[in-house]
Amino acid sequence: MTTAPASIDRQRIGAIAQREEARYRERTPRSAELFERARRSLPLGVASSFQAYEPYPLFMTDARGSLIWDVDGNEYIDFDMAFGVLAAGHSHPILADVLAHRVANGTCYTFPVEDGVLLAEEIKRRFGADLVRFSNSGTEATMDAIRVARGFTGREKILKFEGGYHGHHDDVLVSIQPPRELMGPDDAPATVPASAGLPRSRVDETVVAPFNRPDALERILERHQGQIAAIIIEPVQFNIGVVPPLPGFLERVRELATAYGAVLIFDEVKTGVVLAYGGATEHYGVRPDLFCLAKSIGGGIPIGAFGGRGEVMSVIERLPEPGSVAGTALEHTTIPGGATRVAHLGTFNGNPLSMAAGVAVLTRILTHDVYPTLHAMGESLTNGCQEVIDDFGLPGYAVNVGPKGCVMFTPARVTNYRDFIGLDSELWAASFFYLANRGILLPPGPDDQWTLSVQHSPADIDRYVSTFRDFAAELTAT
Ligand SMILES: Cc1ncc(COP(=O)(O)O)c(C=O)c1O
Repeated sequence: MTTAPASIDRQRIGAIAQREEARYRERTPRSAELFERARRSLPLGVASSFQAYEPYPLFMTDARGSLIWDVDGNEYIDFDMAFGVLAAGHSHPILADVLAHRVANGTCYTFPVEDGVLLAEEIKRRFGADLVRFSNSGTEATMDAIRVARGFTGREKILKFEGGYHGHHDDVLVSIQPPRELMGPDDAPATVPASAGLPRSRVDETVVAPFNRPDALERILERHQGQIAAIIIEPVQFNIGVVPPLPGFLERVRELATAYGAVLIFDEVKTGVVLAYGGATEHYGVRPDLFCLAKSIGGGIPIGAFGGRGEVMSVIERLPEPGSVAGTALEHTTIPGGATRVAHLGTFNGNPLSMAAGVAVLTRILTHDVYPTLHAMGESLTNGCQEVIDDFGLPGYAVNVGPKGCVMFTPARVTNYRDFIGLDSELWAASFFYLANRGILLPPGPDDQWTLSVQHSPADIDRYVSTFRDFAAELTAT
């Protein structure tokens, strides 16, 4: 049965949201208590502002497989999976073994380890890369890749897409979810800082383009002819729900980057080793010059990596000798003779713990054979949610790319950030608390999405869909 999209009674949505939030408070008094205490020591009571949400976040104690438990002992099937970190699931037994051995035998040497070589070789195989370097987070990976692109091209500006998130360093902390009144024309978006504390001079080096609008992108590149060092793009925009590239868009971005002499960087922090063995690069068949990885490659241990074409990555060199001609500017140094050398540094880069985790995850857990099952589960969850939406005429749609997906509570398909602004956040909140109170945990914001892991089961998917069905039934009951 398919009904026309209902205009759902706003009062009903509000009443369910209110009731479910009250129930959430009743079920989680220890989290509330810890939050009150946390607020006295941590801004917003959390370690990263993404962890903060109203009325307060759940504090967790344990997680295994697809399950997670909060401090009040409530059990949830985890569909958040740490903002998409855990395609391997929580504490995969293989990883747990490897880490136990590693913890007992030294976790940091700052001398290289064999696992670092094995992991670099595996990443090269998956992404068709020549060279790879490690960092400790996605933020570091995109920051370093951008510096390499600047060193390689000798240019200073970069281009990012409106609505894209690439971590919290100054170059990219702009136009993430800008307010309507500041965002400028849709074919030439303004560069809008997402935080105080960003130097204007820095922000001005970042040019913003609309996602899925190749015509606009070309005009913007033309306006900045000869100035753009890098185009950084998340192949699927996964920080405004799920916004896949329209057919041909990534191919055109590739062509334009080449035509305008910019290094094309795929931010595969969320997509890499999750959408496919070789990430979005393999899934969409478009090859960037550089790619950035983090999250899932470490199976829950902090890690980052970036890599790509040898010619570009080879600008990474040792720091100049003290007092040498080029010895003052670490960031982007042109050395005599016109060659450039770029610093890439970090005490914890390539540490034995992260490297061991990466090798275990990529060579023993997220192996070739797991991707068909991950995709099948992704389709099954999306189809199940879409059936519910159709049966009850909810204003929204379900969308996924492989194991990552969500319900977008907006009747029209979202193709870029400007469409996303119309999302029904009250309806989203009602569904978030309704599901959480019944043991289905999603990311605590409409801009994120579910991530399925190799430890989720069809029973987990069924439980999600049937709980979502109960929610839809109550929402639309006459
Ligand atoms: C696409 C993308 N790039 C970069 C980052 C930054 O990664 P991290 O939080 O590890 O610094 C994120 C984090 O969510 C991300 O989603």
